Amino acid sequence: MDSNKKEFLKRGIDYPIIDGARTLPGKYYHSRDIYEEEVKKIFHKFWILACRDEEIPMVGDYKLIEVQDESIIIVKEKPNKITALFNVCSHRGTQLCNQPKGNFKTNSIQCPYHAWTYGLDGKLLRAPQMKEGNGFSKSRCALPQAHIRIWEGFVFISLAENPQPFEVQMEALMGKFVDWKMAELRIAHHIEYKLNCNWKLILQNYQECYHCPGVHPLLSKLTPVHSAQHDYSKGAVIGGFMDLSQKGGSMTMDGKAAAQPVYDVTGDDLQRVYYYSVYPNMLLTPHPDYVMFHQITPLGPGKIINDCYWLFHPDVIHDRGAQDRIKSAVDFWDLTNKQDWKVCEQMQIGTKSSRFTRGYYSGREEILHTLDKELLQALGHEDPE
Ligand code: FES
Ligand SMILES: [Fe+2]
Repeated sequence: MDSNKKEFLKRGIDYPIIDGARTLPGKYYHSRDIYEEEVKKIFHKFWILACRDEEIPMVGDYKLIEVQDESIIIVKEKPNKITALFNVCSHRGTQLCNQPKGNFKTNSIQCPYHAWTYGLDGKLLRAPQMKEGNGFSKSRCALPQAHIRIWEGFVFISLAENPQPFEVQMEALMGKFVDWKMAELRIAHHIEYKLNCNWKLILQNYQECYHCPGVHPLLSKLTPVHSAQHDYSKGAVIGGFMDLSQKGGSMTMDGKAAAQPVYDVTGDDLQRVYYYSVYPNMLLTPHPDYVMFHQITPLGPGKIINDCYWLFHPDVIHDRGAQDRIKSAVDFWDLTNKQDWKVCEQMQIGTKSSRFTRGYYSGREEILHTLDKELLQALGHEDPE
C-alpha cells in the first residue's frame, strides 16, 4: 500500500476511486453458463481445500468432497498417507460411496452394483466372474486419483491432470503462519451455513472492510476499521490483517482472549487478526489465540455451502474450564458471519435486476478489483465493457 493511501486510511478520509475500477456485471453472479465455466476452469483446475487431516485419523477413514459434478473420496490409505480417489466405479460408472464420511471397514471399497472391490490405493482387487484377457485387465481399472497436498494440516486437492505446482499457486502461504503450528491445532467447533449467493460474493466480502462500520458494530470496536491493511497478493493468495484495539485481546464477544496465544505466536502477531483468501474456496483467519477458516462449496450460480471451523490448541479443547471461552469466539464469528451472509444474499438478489449494470469500486475495495481481474483471466474473458 502506498503511503498516501495509508495516510488517507489513518485519517479516515476516503481516497479517490481507482481509475476504471468497475464491478463485474450482474451476470457473473447469475449466469449458469459462466458458473459452469468457473467450475471447469477454476474449481476443477486450481488446488482447492478438501478437509483437515484430523478428520480422517484412522486407516480406512474417509470424507467425500463434492465439487459440482465430481465426487472425490479423501481416504486415509496408510498411517502416513492420504489419497484422493474419484468416486466412480471403473466397471460401469456407478458412484461407489454416498455417505459423506465414514470408515471402509475392510480397508477396501466395494461398488454397490456388481461388487467390484478396490483397495484404499484405488487398485482393483476383485471383479467377480470377470477373467482377464480380451482387453480387460484389473491393472487398467484402478480408480483415478486426484492430486493431493497437505499444508499445515489442511488437505488440498486438484482435479486437474497436470495442476500448477502447489508451491506456485500457494507461494504466499509457504513459510507463512509457521508460529501457529496449525498442523497441531484441532477442530473445536464447526458450523455449516447454507447460503443463497454466488461463491465470489463471499470472497469479496471477506477482503474489504468498507462495510464494517455499518454491518459489524462489534467487530469494528474490536478491530478499528482503519487498521485494515493488505500485506500480500500473489498467486491464488490475497491477504491482510487488522489490529486488535485491545492488547492481549481477540475476536470474542467480550473482546478478551479465548485462550493463551497459540504455540509460538509473538510480537506484532499478538495484536493482529489476519484475513487470507486462498482462492477459490478457502478463507483463513489466524488470531493470536485460535484460527478460524471457511470452506466454500459452490452448488450453483446462486447457492453455496460455507463450512466454518474454529481451530484451537488441543489442550484448550480438552480443558472443561475453557469451553465458555471457545464459545465466546464461536458466538462472535457466528454473529459476524450472519451479518455478512445477510448483505451477500441481498447483493445476490439486487445484482439480478435488469437495472444493475456495473458499479464503482471505492478505493477501499481495490483488492476486489484485483480479484475480479484474476477471475476474468482464469476464465479467459475480456474486461467487460
Ligand atoms: S458398476 Fe460398479 S461393479 Fe458394476
Ligand atoms: Fe464482514
